[in-house]
Amino acid sequence: MSRAVFDRLMAETRAFHENHPDAASFCPFPDDLKAVEVETNLINAARLFMAEDELEDCNCPQLRDACLAAAPFAKWRETYRHSGIGGEFLERFACYALIGPGGAFSSSKMGAYFVYMPKGLHYPWHHHPAEELYVVLAGSAEFHLKDSPTRRLSTGETSFHASNRPHAMTTVDTPVLTYVLLRGDLETLPVWSQAPGAETKA
Ligand SMILES: [Fe+2]
Repeated sequence: MSRAVFDRLMAETRAFHENHPDAASFCPFPDDLKAVEVETNLINAARLFMAEDELEDCNCPQLRDACLAAAPFAKWRETYRHSGIGGEFLERFACYALIGPGGAFSSSKMGAYFVYMPKGLHYPWHHHPAEELYVVLAGSAEFHLKDSPTRRLSTGETSFHASNRPHAMTTVDTPVLTYVLLRGDLETLPVWSQAPGAETKA
């Protein structure tokens, strides 16, 4: 059951990726994909995503819907569980890999994740050695990049994060669903750029 759901999500993701100029130029879609068993773990933030009804601002509804269909079967990431961030963030920030640790596929060339945030949530400043591209699939969010003006991005728009350059994201009056690509160091996890709660915006 879940394999069919992830296979459908993979097909939609590949089609979207290969047709999106920024995604396609960031990294060719991997040719070394291997199917991996997924250990499902539904967390509260995943339930918020599954109940979300304000993601209609979207130019890729097939990918959005495939991402939602896979949500009950995914292994939701808990990267920040022991990082000092408050429970409210952990309860609301939702991310799972399609290609990468815990995901339904592995590749040595690229990581691919989906990140959902409900409205009114701040994802604090963080950084990681991997280069990263966010593509907004649905809704909108403010993207903060160190030493750059904040940009509010909506469906189809992208934000590139260079290696170890701090970045953050805030939803205001809409939720957001994003497709997140990583290349380079796919092993090292992100860390907060400053202690959560002590940050100032760039
Ligand atoms: Fe990042």
